[in-house]
Amino acid sequence: MFIRPVTRFGRDLFTAPDKSITHRAVMFNAVADGEAVITNALLGNDCRSTIACMTALGAKVEVSGDTVRVRGVSALKDAALDAGNSGTTTRLLAGLLAGKNVTASIDGDDSLRSRPMLRVTRPLCEMGADITATDGKAPLYIRPAALHGIDYVMPVASAQVKSAILLAGLSADGQTRVTEKVRSRDHTELMLRAMGADIVTEGNTVTVRRSGLHSCDVHVPGDMSAAAFLFGAAVAVNGGSVTVREVGLNPTRTGVLDKLVQMGAEMTVKNEVAGAEPYGDVTVRREGALRPFTVVAEEVPSLIDELPLLAVLGMYAEGDSVIRGAEELRVKESDRVETTAAMIRALGGEADTFPDGMIIHGSGKVRGGTVDSFGDHRIAMSAAVAALGSECGCEIKGAESAAVSYPGFWEVIC
Ligand code: S3P
Repeated sequence: MFIRPVTRFGRDLFTAPDKSITHRAVMFNAVADGEAVITNALLGNDCRSTIACMTALGAKVEVSGDTVRVRGVSALKDAALDAGNSGTTTRLLAGLLAGKNVTASIDGDDSLRSRPMLRVTRPLCEMGADITATDGKAPLYIRPAALHGIDYVMPVASAQVKSAILLAGLSADGQTRVTEKVRSRDHTELMLRAMGADIVTEGNTVTVRRSGLHSCDVHVPGDMSAAAFLFGAAVAVNGGSVTVREVGLNPTRTGVLDKLVQMGAEMTVKNEVAGAEPYGDVTVRREGALRPFTVVAEEVPSLIDELPLLAVLGMYAEGDSVIRGAEELRVKESDRVETTAAMIRALGGEADTFPDGMIIHGSGKVRGGTVDSFGDHRIAMSAAVAALGSECGCEIKGAESAAVSYPGFWEVIC
């Protein structure tokens, strides 16, 4: 895929529906007591993996356009599950299945098989789960076990790990408490509460007690992590302006907007709709020179998936942009510290890496070049954004990976 530079970038559109919320809406309703309708569901490859897994476990899932109907099952079937490229599917399901009296395996593609799983299997084993990983990674093997609650202080900031423990806590004796140093996205807590679970959040601690779930219709807002690429395009092309309609504004997800503003972009929010998962119409505009940005550890969870994008935007500012406290980037769909730095260098920029982040030495300009996505959707889409304001454009290898989270991305960006 070749992306040409452009001199103007303006869009007013809806973006891909939220991936995190779609995963949860399908998965939780699949074990709830009734039928739910999920509208504006994301049908990217990752969420399709979740649908396939829940179907294999015995739930009835029907897809029609972007509407998904889910009828839950109380007794799950034993199954060999394929989570594809999806870490969220794998880790959340590990927790959900641990206390569900089921024998299951969860496997996926080479990227998924390289990602750390002890971060979920360890706390689940502490709860009494019979779950094993393969050299600390997928495939995972789960067998029936009786669970008991634990009091767990999270060693890493990860919504996937937090969610796995909370989901196991729904089938555990006693109370399960999870404490985070910095709050990660809270879609699991919000949806479980809406489905009738006994779950309470106090500060950075979430407590859950054994609960059954009631089905709950969900209208999925736009995905801030998908919209970010469009806002990024408005920032990469001087004079650019993008409005994304009905994009999710959950404060655990909006860190990227703060960084775009720090860089000098103008941001406005209109038509905000309040609720557990608020959403609204967000406009980002750029006029003139950009400033470098800094990201520190406490900010990382709220913009974790947007860091490759922010890093390439750092090339468009004059001066050093710094990302620290982001060691989690190394265990995403690719080692995003290295694949992002490689992308910057391939585009003619300069970056130095640390174990927990990088410095981008921005010159205000991007030459362009050939970027390998390494099969990572967010690297492919970041390269496309970088190309738009560049001198000679960008050839992107592995562009098809964008379909993991943003089907239709190439039509929108080109
Ligand atoms: C996700 C949580 C994040 C994020 C991923 C989706 C989720 O991962 O990177 O794309 O839906 O819970 P971690 O929780 O492992 O940081």
